[in-house]
Amino acid sequence: MTQDIIIDTDPGQDDAVAILLALASPEIRVLGITAVAGNVPLSLTQLNARKICELAGRRDIPVFAGCDRPMRRALVTAEHVHGNSGLDGADLPAPTMPLQDAHAVDFIIDTLRARPAGSVTLCPLGPLTNIATAFARAPDIVGRVQRVVLMGGAYFEVGNITPAAEFNIHVDPEAADMVLRSGAEIVMMPLDVTHQVLTTRARVQALRDIGNRVGQTVAALTGFFERFDRQKYGSDGAPLHDPCVIAWLLAPHLFQGRHVNVEIETTSALTLGMTVADWWGVSARPANALFMGSVDADGFYSLLTERLARL
Ligand code: RIB
Ligand code: CA
Repeated sequence: MTQDIIIDTDPGQDDAVAILLALASPEIRVLGITAVAGNVPLSLTQLNARKICELAGRRDIPVFAGCDRPMRRALVTAEHVHGNSGLDGADLPAPTMPLQDAHAVDFIIDTLRARPAGSVTLCPLGPLTNIATAFARAPDIVGRVQRVVLMGGAYFEVGNITPAAEFNIHVDPEAADMVLRSGAEIVMMPLDVTHQVLTTRARVQALRDIGNRVGQTVAALTGFFERFDRQKYGSDGAPLHDPCVIAWLLAPHLFQGRHVNVEIETTSALTLGMTVADWWGVSARPANALFMGSVDADGFYSLLTERLARL
């Protein structure tokens, strides 16, 4: 059964790998890619999304530009991680495919209204600004979403952009709060699992050994992306965050999690954007998300490597 998805993204090297994994997998039909401001400004995330589609030979994928700033706050970007282009590490040519004229939020709303209810999965890989804006502008679409499978948040792994908060949630905490409270079925890939899928030397070499341009490019992108996390965490590689979303669609058995209550800190300056996950069920708050806690990392990289070899 083919899964129809919309990828909402702020490329970003790890976003790029997630997009490539989706485009390499016949089980998934990417209805469109909506760019959001996050890792780098919107002008670059929409450009990078098109560069990645062309790398995959998929000029047919419609790419839309969405919100250029969070709902109520100034934009926070992450050039220190991703480089000024957002895709530092590989020199990809300027895209020739056009950016779609429609706004990303309108595409999300129109697609969910036009397609059968429960047939479209939203896959946010960056701040949740586009998704929350669509839900606020068209509340009727919330019940039409099959599920939201997002990369964001943290509990046992705490924060990566502040001591308390993960980047995607921290950039637009109000948007995350709206999505978590929306009533939509939500699957969260927090740092608790993405920190288990590290780009070790052996795994990157296996990607390079694929021998195609995609494998070479992904190895180069991760080579840049990981330098920051190797130093920060002293780890053997960087967490490959966003592809976990697509891998769950393809092979959910690789992941384990719990249905718990997750709420977002939107007021405290100290903990803004913290995802307060009731992992131990100590509150009476109702579960609103499948919050992942562990992953078969070798299985994840085997899947990723096998699929990227198809492009
Ligand atoms: O915290 C990791 C997340 O922030 C990833 O989605 C990465 O691309 C950045 O957007
Ligand atoms: Ca991202």
